[in-house]
Amino acid sequence: MATMSELLHFPPNGDILPANTAVLAIAIITGALLLLYRWALPTPIPGIPYNKAAAKSIFGDIGPMVQHTKKTNRLYDWLVAQNVQLNSPIIQLFTRPFTRPWVVVTDFQETRDVLMRRGKEFDRSKFFSDISGGITPENHFLMKTEDEFRRHRKWVQGIMTPGFLHQVAAPHTYHVCMDLIRLWEQKARLAQSHPISAEGDMHRTALDAIWSIVFGADSGKSTISAQLDLYSSINPSGRSQKIQMLWHSCQRHPIDQQSTLCSQSPRAQNFLVSLFAAHDTTGTALTWALKFLTDNQDVQRKLRAALQSAHATAFAEKRQPTVQEITGSVIHYRDAVVEESLRCSLTESAIIRTAMKDVTLLGYHIPKGTEVFFMGNGPSIFTPAFDIDDSRRNPTYFATNDRIGSWDTNGMADFIPERWLVDDGKGNKVFDAAAGPLLTFGLGERGCYGRKLSYVEMKLILTLIVWNFELLPCPKELSGYGAIDKMTHGPEQCYVRLAKVAM
Ligand code: HEM
Repeated sequence: MATMSELLHFPPNGDILPANTAVLAIAIITGALLLLYRWALPTPIPGIPYNKAAAKSIFGDIGPMVQHTKKTNRLYDWLVAQNVQLNSPIIQLFTRPFTRPWVVVTDFQETRDVLMRRGKEFDRSKFFSDISGGITPENHFLMKTEDEFRRHRKWVQGIMTPGFLHQVAAPHTYHVCMDLIRLWEQKARLAQSHPISAEGDMHRTALDAIWSIVFGADSGKSTISAQLDLYSSINPSGRSQKIQMLWHSCQRHPIDQQSTLCSQSPRAQNFLVSLFAAHDTTGTALTWALKFLTDNQDVQRKLRAALQSAHATAFAEKRQPTVQEITGSVIHYRDAVVEESLRCSLTESAIIRTAMKDVTLLGYHIPKGTEVFFMGNGPSIFTPAFDIDDSRRNPTYFATNDRIGSWDTNGMADFIPERWLVDDGKGNKVFDAAAGPLLTFGLGERGCYGRKLSYVEMKLILTLIVWNFELLPCPKELSGYGAIDKMTHGPEQCYVRLAKVAM
């Protein structure tokens, strides 16, 4: 009679048993790995378009995204390019393993509705706090829109009142900028019509301005005035090493004070973040503005003519317009140039929010916790909008009639300040901030808190620069439009060739 092992085809000594066990174990491990792999694959949010190949890899869209950022130093143009490629105003991207996809929306009207009216559903982004919260974790910038945020916000609210803007912020900015004008006179003397880099000076001017606005510092101790002392004292054969040494020593002072502030109270952190938020953004926007004015000589001439006509007394008296004359004047073309510079600068290219609960966006279900990127650098602002059926919009979208106009689809991406000027019905062209879409400051309760201050600064600084200097065209090699995404979207190159305006 056959033994049990013969019946089961096991050899009597049982040698094969471990091999079978091994096969079984391998099969189980392979099955488990397969299950694990399938579990680790991105889980798309139903219905929202995505890159099909990305959904088949646990690394999702990471490969192409990293390749792009490594090659270009930019992220946001890649995000919006995926909307265009997938031909949809809303898409999802798998950018981090084991987490929800990012949702990317590129439609200004929808974005505006969300930011202005759906703040309870979409609040300050967790992703944003993760990348920028390390230095000042208790800053209101990072908080959800709750009581604590509003309490913190109160601590800094004074710096945006009209009184403070005109009586404190404007004079400080003016003094800092006059130092810049004097510095550039020295630089122009030394450069003798050669182009000079302007990016650092724009950032330092913005830093000095906000520093003196917040701390009431004497502009005589600013980074610009320190440079001014130095450049005034050298002749064209001056030694650049000395400049470097002095430059570093004059920068150390503010940096030490910042780090002391960092470790202090949440109130100090709020001021510190205002410094960062104000300096880098305004500096970047000014840098772009100089490039646009340099490359659009007709706009520059028109702006100078508008300024000289509005400040006719100062022009006739061959002097600088005073701070009161600048802040007290209505100059539509100047305001249009500032707004168009901000639009085309893309200083901030995306506004990010976290879905606070399960919500619906453009007809799709978005699970709680999803990060949503609202893009300001693509269709509906710089290229024609996607066609979106009204049935996909949220009821809040139809609750008001205050929608912003849209841009003429011709030349949407071009630098044309005139797009902000509308007919007032009496034959005059007047500046209208609602003429068309702009997302550079975000919108709604969590939109940029310092927007008014940045307008005061930009109007003053651009007025004084264009009043004093012609920004002559620069060689092509120094006039590129490459950009880098850091905390802001800054130009790779910004050079100016300065000639003093004859008065
Ligand atoms: C050209 C200049 C500036 C640009 C382009 C800019 C842009 C922005 C953007 C895009 C946001 C996020 C908005 C959102 O999430 O909806 C923001 C927030 C903020 N900005 Fe600005 N900003 C500028 C200047 C300033 C200045 C001068 C200050 C001065 C204090 C400032 C203070 C802030 C603060 C405190 C927040 C956080 C608001 C909140 O969380 O509620 N910004 N800014």
